[in-house]
Amino acid sequence: MPASISQNIRLVSGLILFAFAAAHFLNHAVGLFSLEAMDEVQEWRLVVTRSWPGMIVLAAALLAHAVLAFTKTIQRGAWRLPAWELVQLLTGFAIPLLLLPHVIETHVAHALLGVQDGYLYALALIWPRAAWIQTALLLLVWLHGCIGLHHWLKFRSWYRLAQPLLIVLAIAVPLAALMGFMVSGRAVAALLADPAMAERMRQVTHWPGELDEKWLGLLQTSARIAVAALLVAGATIIVFRHIALLAAPKVAIAVAGGTTVQAAVGPTLLEMIRSNDIPHRSECGGRARCGLCRIRVEEGAQALPPPGHAERVMLAGLKAPENVRLACQIRPEGPLTITPLVVGGGTLAQPAEHADLQGERRTVCLVAIRVRAFPAIAADRLASDLVFLINEIFGAIGGAVEASAGRIDRFLGDGVLAVFGEQQGADQGCRAALQAIRAIDIAMDRVNDRIAAEIGRPVELAMGAHVAETVVGQLRLGGTSQLAVLGLGAEWPARLAELAATRGWQLAMSARMAAAAGLDDLDGTMRERLADAEQGSDLDIFGVQRARDIALAAGAGPGTPA
Ligand code: FES
Repeated sequence: MPASISQNIRLVSGLILFAFAAAHFLNHAVGLFSLEAMDEVQEWRLVVTRSWPGMIVLAAALLAHAVLAFTKTIQRGAWRLPAWELVQLLTGFAIPLLLLPHVIETHVAHALLGVQDGYLYALALIWPRAAWIQTALLLLVWLHGCIGLHHWLKFRSWYRLAQPLLIVLAIAVPLAALMGFMVSGRAVAALLADPAMAERMRQVTHWPGELDEKWLGLLQTSARIAVAALLVAGATIIVFRHIALLAAPKVAIAVAGGTTVQAAVGPTLLEMIRSNDIPHRSECGGRARCGLCRIRVEEGAQALPPPGHAERVMLAGLKAPENVRLACQIRPEGPLTITPLVVGGGTLAQPAEHADLQGERRTVCLVAIRVRAFPAIAADRLASDLVFLINEIFGAIGGAVEASAGRIDRFLGDGVLAVFGEQQGADQGCRAALQAIRAIDIAMDRVNDRIAAEIGRPVELAMGAHVAETVVGQLRLGGTSQLAVLGLGAEWPARLAELAATRGWQLAMSARMAAAAGLDDLDGTMRERLADAEQGSDLDIFGVQRARDIALAAGAGPGTPA
């Protein structure tokens, strides 16, 4: 089954199970009011969950989720996992061990023996004898579900705004459920302390007879043994798979400017890299949701299968050029040379040839992209809200720059300075920069769809673009080092962006840049001359109202490294 389909089934089945668990736990919380209220709510709940369609959907979700998670786990090619993945994996395998015996003493007893398994029966059965097991089960289910939900939602733009409320719910629901469980459990225990009431309860609930109890106990033990046997079988398969991988054919994976490793064919590229102790970004557990594992394929792309659905969707969202792939989605069978595109805290990776650049004169295209009226947007805004908005805006800008083989050189407080053509040369860099500028203009429509209402107006950008000879070098700043462009030419784009903002243009670009990009159709642009007092020279400027209207010269497109 294609990975994207099994991933979607796992997600949908997980959501169904989480909804069931949440409703179940909220029902427990009603125990804070009374046992009768608990039973009343349960009756409504059972209308859905005990109906044939409800039972079929629940059973299918449980089976699909468990089988797919089990299959994915035994197919793993690397076991260096982030802590959250490890916790989700361990809770996922502990849940069936505790859940199946509970299902047998309630649902199965009801279906086969006619037991009335309402709260009175369940609490009489559980409280206080197995209260800690049920508490552990509730917490494991909730933790497992919340981790899954968090790592699914964290890439949505609205999630950060909703997070405080969701955190409160994530704590309140299990807390209320456990308190309801405790209060009602104690109430039932007090009630059943009276032998007459205990006898009455056994009659009302059709409490299983001695033989039936033994039979149910046997069923519970068998279920525990079956789950344990499955876990042992899974562990054995994993061990044998790793032994088989040692003997499997190897391919050379070269990280541009770094090391080359020999990795066994079979695992994903992300697993190959990580199992060789090379750190690589990933925040979705290899589910094609975060895009942080993306790499540029320098050599060997022809041996890779085309992207599957999930990878295609993610790469299209990032506007990634054709030679960019997700490391978590490809399983290389031939030698590959790659450049990781996201490193550390999210900085674009530097091209390999810049890894230790001492300083070199290069003619590059520089684009300053600034947010207009930034002080008004930032004023009186919560720090977390401001960071969220800026991340939305800069995320769109960074995606467009990277998709056109550019690099964010530095943050300017209210914007960024992007560099194009460091490897491809100035002319191709200028064409790539114009492509990026158009893409940024279009991407801002989508950003504004999400945030304009919050700000009260759409966010507008002012951009300045110029081609200049600069010095490109690795700057050492205390414990860190960073590639940066230096030189007088590097200051022009910021001045041009300022000019664009004052004139009400979206872009001000130098005539030199337009010529380098091969722009011959500049109808509708404004022309100005900007004096440079220090240099005693003038700069001819074109002002563009809407960057998306720029007619790119034939052949312009996302630049690719030469
Ligand atoms: S690890 Fe998240 S997309 Fe690959």
